[in-house]
Amino acid sequence: MEKLEQLYEGKAKKIFRTSDPYILVIEYKDDAAAFHGEKKGTILGKGIINNKMSNYTMSLLEKNGVPTHLIRELNDRETAVKKVEIVPLEVIVRNVSAGNFARRLGVEEGKKLPCPTLEFLYKDDALGDPMVNSYHAVAIGAATFEEIDQITKYAFLINDVMSKYFKDIGILLVDFKVEFGRYRGQLLLADEISPDTCRLWDINTNERLDKDRFRRDLGNETEACQEVFRRLGIR
Ligand code: TMP
Repeated sequence: MEKLEQLYEGKAKKIFRTSDPYILVIEYKDDAAAFHGEKKGTILGKGIINNKMSNYTMSLLEKNGVPTHLIRELNDRETAVKKVEIVPLEVIVRNVSAGNFARRLGVEEGKKLPCPTLEFLYKDDALGDPMVNSYHAVAIGAATFEEIDQITKYAFLINDVMSKYFKDIGILLVDFKVEFGRYRGQLLLADEISPDTCRLWDINTNERLDKDRFRRDLGNETEACQEVFRRLGIR
């Protein structure tokens, strides 16, 4: 799969066109950004870990009934994916209070929630990605009610599959963000699933094994990413 010109460069990824109009190549970078790009840095080897972990997780989800954009890993940093039209919603599932949920609702960080929660953020940098409900999402044309229903089912299925999977390797899946895309009339899981887009805590010690190390200046980001990688047993 030959990559042609670059279509986009974001905080953590570059996207390339290929000779096939339905296929893109994602290249994962080591750059890290948080707080809408206000904090920037580099985490050595992060791109490789995010690429491999995302592909590993997406393969697992495919086997469990969630269609994804993944076609094939090309090398350590590059993956061929189906070219989707992104649904402009960040879909966040939470099992344990942390981050924005803890701050906004005054729920102590680390408290297990009685049931998983679901949030939608409208992807719009100028507006600062405001939280919307399903009616807002439909009213602003971000998605249809049918898509919202399907996204909701997939989001909770992803949570079930990933929570169990991480638990087996001693990791608590606190929360995560996913994005979906449209591809030839089908809804697919797109973007990435990695330590950048999940909160992963050690089950026994609550040690942060994710991007919060970077967001909160806890240090050892590389080691934390590598620890997740090691436990996943990915090569
Ligand atoms: P939050 O507590 O900041 O809302 O984050 C919830 C989860 O979603 C956390 O695992 C990080 C992830 N997330 C992203 O990956 N990208 C984003 O832009 C946001 C807001 C959250």
